[in-house]
Amino acid sequence: MSTVPTLEQLHAIGARQQPSYPDAVAVDSAVTRLRTMPPLVFAGECDDLKSKMAAVSRGEAFLLQGGDCAETFDGVTADNVRNKLRVLLQMAVVLTYAGSVPVVKLGRLAGQYAKPRSSDLETRDGMTLPAYRGDIVNGFDFTEESRLPNPQRLLDAYNASAATLNLVRAFVTGGYADLRQVHTWNTDFVRTSVAGQRYELLAAEIDKAMSFMTAIGADPDALRRVDFHSSHEALLLEYEHAMTRIDSRTELPYNVSGHFVWIGERTRQLDGAHVEYFRHIRNPIGVKLGPAATADDALALAARLNPRNEPGRLTFITRFGAGRIRDGLPGLVEKVTAEGVEAAWVCDPMHGNTFESSTGYKTRRFDDVVEEVQGFFDVHRSLGTWPGGILVEMTGDDVTECIGGGEEIDEAGLAHRYESVVDPRLNRVQSLELAFLVAEMLRKA
Ligand code: PEP
Ligand code: CO
Repeated sequence: MSTVPTLEQLHAIGARQQPSYPDAVAVDSAVTRLRTMPPLVFAGECDDLKSKMAAVSRGEAFLLQGGDCAETFDGVTADNVRNKLRVLLQMAVVLTYAGSVPVVKLGRLAGQYAKPRSSDLETRDGMTLPAYRGDIVNGFDFTEESRLPNPQRLLDAYNASAATLNLVRAFVTGGYADLRQVHTWNTDFVRTSVAGQRYELLAAEIDKAMSFMTAIGADPDALRRVDFHSSHEALLLEYEHAMTRIDSRTELPYNVSGHFVWIGERTRQLDGAHVEYFRHIRNPIGVKLGPAATADDALALAARLNPRNEPGRLTFITRFGAGRIRDGLPGLVEKVTAEGVEAAWVCDPMHGNTFESSTGYKTRRFDDVVEEVQGFFDVHRSLGTWPGGILVEMTGDDVTECIGGGEEIDEAGLAHRYESVVDPRLNRVQSLELAFLVAEMLRKA
């Protein structure tokens, strides 16, 4: 096993989507400090998730991956983290119970702070400043000071991730995720929606099943806690490299800032710095594949990133767009499968369906999201392969960022509560609705 390249070697390859820091000495000192910080996750936990992802690739489990497009430091509050976790738990229950399949739960959180951008600069009213690249790099406020990349934010991102993950761990092991709490996750405003009412009925059925189990003396620990893991796009090399450690047990390198990390659509070049970095770490990893990806691209990525063809190591996350998935996906899946490549297939129904509303908001249609997931299921069903999961941008709050859904948010309604700093997220009711629709697709898969 070769050793992880140095940060300098990675930069020499010409890494894409990196900020231009004005002060190299300050970057060095932040990176040096970060290298001394404790791991956020353990290598053994990453291995556990890898074996769960192997079950996904065998068609024995379904991945639910969800969270913000971009987390923010301001968003690290108990309410925000709990609300997000709560809707993810609700979605997982719906998929497990109504879809009758084990669900692997993966938060897009506790590290999702770096964003790729289509342009390095942003101009507003004649003023041009560096684009916002996520809270780990610079501030969202459109001022010179805020937009200047600041390496202190590397440490702030570590601390924000640690606080988030600590709370998530406490929630999932400390009783909040106990299945006997299924009703309490359904708070008032959700209960009044159609999806919330449907959830209430399902929760009552689960209660009945649990009473039965208690009556016969079965009291499995599995009801009381859930396995929950963290993930983010490993984009900013300073952070990811500094959080890469050699596991003392196996002497292999792991990225210890999250259990699962992925390479984005914009940084997946075969000879690029991100692929070179990812090649060396042992975490379960994902690669986004957009409509321009060919089967040969996917095969070459698999050969580079998973040369031993280890099950659970590699997940392809496709993001074609509702109008393109039915034509684009079959060729990819067919050839990759025919070559015997071990990979889980996950659908990101968000990033191929973004557009600007007439009112000037970056948005997505709920119907397009559903249509892409349906296309994903149909393609896999026709090929006899397994639709392994979904990656969704969602929040636990009642925001108005995506159009449609049962509450019928329209273009004018987006202004009501639009809070995302990058991409639009499904709100709580839309997330729950999607879970019910996907559960139906799973029943037929
Ligand atoms: C994302 O997941 O937020 C993202 C930037 O996606 P992609 O790399 O697929 O464009
Ligand atoms: Co996004």
